Amino acid sequence: MKKDDAIIEVKKLKKEFKVNISGEGFAGKLKSLFQRKYKLITAVNSINFSVRRGEFVGYVGENGAGKSTTIKMLTGILVPTSGTAKVGGLIPYENRKKNAEKIGVVFGQRTQLWWDLPVRESFDLLRVIFRVARPAYDYQMEKLKKALDLKPFLDMPVRKLSLGQRMRCDLAASLIHNPPVLFLDEPTIGLDVLAKESIRNFLAEMNREEGTTIILTTHDMNDIEHLCKRLIILDEGRIIFDDETAVLKKNFIHEKQIEVEFYDEACFIKEIPGVTVVREEGCKKWLKHDNKKSGIGEVISALATQFKIKDISVKEPSVESIIRNIYDNRIALPMMTFENAFSE
Ligand SMILES: Nc1ncnc2c1ncn2[C@@H]1O[C@H](COP(=O)(O)OP(=O)(O)O)[C@@H](O)[C@H]1O
Ligand SMILES: [Mg+2]
Repeated sequence: MKKDDAIIEVKKLKKEFKVNISGEGFAGKLKSLFQRKYKLITAVNSINFSVRRGEFVGYVGENGAGKSTTIKMLTGILVPTSGTAKVGGLIPYENRKKNAEKIGVVFGQRTQLWWDLPVRESFDLLRVIFRVARPAYDYQMEKLKKALDLKPFLDMPVRKLSLGQRMRCDLAASLIHNPPVLFLDEPTIGLDVLAKESIRNFLAEMNREEGTTIILTTHDMNDIEHLCKRLIILDEGRIIFDDETAVLKKNFIHEKQIEVEFYDEACFIKEIPGVTVVREEGCKKWLKHDNKKSGIGEVISALATQFKIKDISVKEPSVESIIRNIYDNRIALPMMTFENAFSE
């Protein structure tokens, strides 16, 4: 990679939090008032990575892995304990204002819009805050309204929107100043399938058409598979995987869980390549399917020719199970960046 190609550069980035440990019971609590005890939590532990202009990177990990803390340092909300981060050549936590003009950010759990104001007015306030000139704003807004289908609720107060509608507005709000980099922290959390789909389509288009660099934090492996060419997996503050999503898919996402319900309780499944029965309960069976051995379509049709199916669902492996899998397989896989995981 050419050095000046990198739009985000993270070097030995670390964040520790000092948390109070209070004593047990009244006496203990009283004592800890005078004799404070702290414990250090290392939320992000000396991570290194860089992102090129136009990349779409998935940033995943279990709860508490340090994803939001990383995003907060990259957006200038938190100052690192040590190490450095640069976004578009700026150090975000030293140039908060300037950095804010160059990035967009959405925290799925929190809105940046004004709860009681109509959506349109929130956008207008943000236009003033970001000092976007009228013509540029009008042009950008017209595009966003169309792409995110905002027109039906522009005059509604934010508090009246559904979660999916609010998220579309939050995305639009983060893009009013047309930033080259977009940070998204769990933007699809709690959304239904259709709402997720519309957000995904929009993000893919932004990345493709505008060349926006996007860092997406998510729990949803479907988001990753659809959107992110590259994936960084964080575990307890350290990077344990940084490579193309296709590499992960090839090596780890080969097992899916199939939940199937038949009409008849006494169904005995004849052998299907790659399929093992994990659990049975009445008419329901839980199967494990290894897609290196057969395609999911073949499995479903093999099941359907054997018995009458009442209901069937195919589940992706969870982020948690993939991380466990990576640990189990790490010695066999030289392409993974484990120097990151185990070096200080
Ligand atoms: N402001 C804070 N004060 C103390 N501990 C924190 C704070 N923010 C996060 N942490 C801790 O840091 C770790 C990483 O948190 P976070 O970055 O929010 O994880 P994630 O977003 O991956 O779920 C967790 O153990 C969390 O409890
Ligand atoms: Mg988080």
